Amino acid sequence: MPRFPGQGHRNPGDVVIGPLDLAARVDEALAVQAIAFGLGAEEVAVRRQIVLRHLTCPGARSLGATTPDGRLVGFVYGMPNDRTHWWSTVVEPYLRGRGHDGWLDNSFVITELHVHPRYQNRGIGRSLITGITDSAAEPRSILSAIDTDSPARGLYHALGYEDLARQVLFPSAPKPYVVMGAPLPLRRR
Ligand SMILES: CC(C)(COP(=O)(O)OP(=O)(O)OC[C@H]1O[C@@H](n2cnc3c(N)ncnc32)[C@H](O)[C@@H]1OP(=O)(O)O)[C@@H](O)C(=O)NCCC(=O)NCCS
Repeated sequence: MPRFPGQGHRNPGDVVIGPLDLAARVDEALAVQAIAFGLGAEEVAVRRQIVLRHLTCPGARSLGATTPDGRLVGFVYGMPNDRTHWWSTVVEPYLRGRGHDGWLDNSFVITELHVHPRYQNRGIGRSLITGITDSAAEPRSILSAIDTDSPARGLYHALGYEDLARQVLFPSAPKPYVVMGAPLPLRRR
């Protein structure tokens, strides 16, 4: 597995970015997501079923960030978009209303990206998302994020993602989301 590229004072040391068997390590990944994103035990149980179902979709894949002693400290997963998936059916009318629903075709969806807070801001999130999209056959990538200024939004903008629809409401989600899209490969520094 490749060593994580050094980034001066932000060099995360020996954290390694590489392919992740997310089905086998789903509980570790959700523990990272729970602390990074703030999920309660009930939400973790629901997410667990969703992740395992996603991983059966064609082209679904994951990368992880792992310490030398084998701890998972970050992960990303995604898949080629499928308009029949729940996420797509929710965002489609918002995108269509802005003439952007073509982004749902031939697009690689980033479903989750999370880095443990102790390991954030060292370039790991950037490395995970560029790594997974670099191996995509699709010419573009889409994702949704909470519609607020956040490190995630800052990172996505820096990588070339633009806002396609804002104030997108998912059933049962308390906060509105923004759908973002970027051409691949993602922009480098
Ligand atoms: C989003 C997240 C995965 C980024 O991971 P990370 O490893 O910290 O990110 P990186 O260090 O690779 O990227 C840093 C970039 O993010 C952006 N960023 C980081 N902190 C930021 C902040 N406080 N404000 C704005 N942008 C910020 C910058 O663009 C920065 O780019 P730079 O390296 O040129 O300075 C991480 O913050 C996280 O897990 N957040 C909580 C969970 C979450 O929100 N996940 C995304 C769900 S949509």
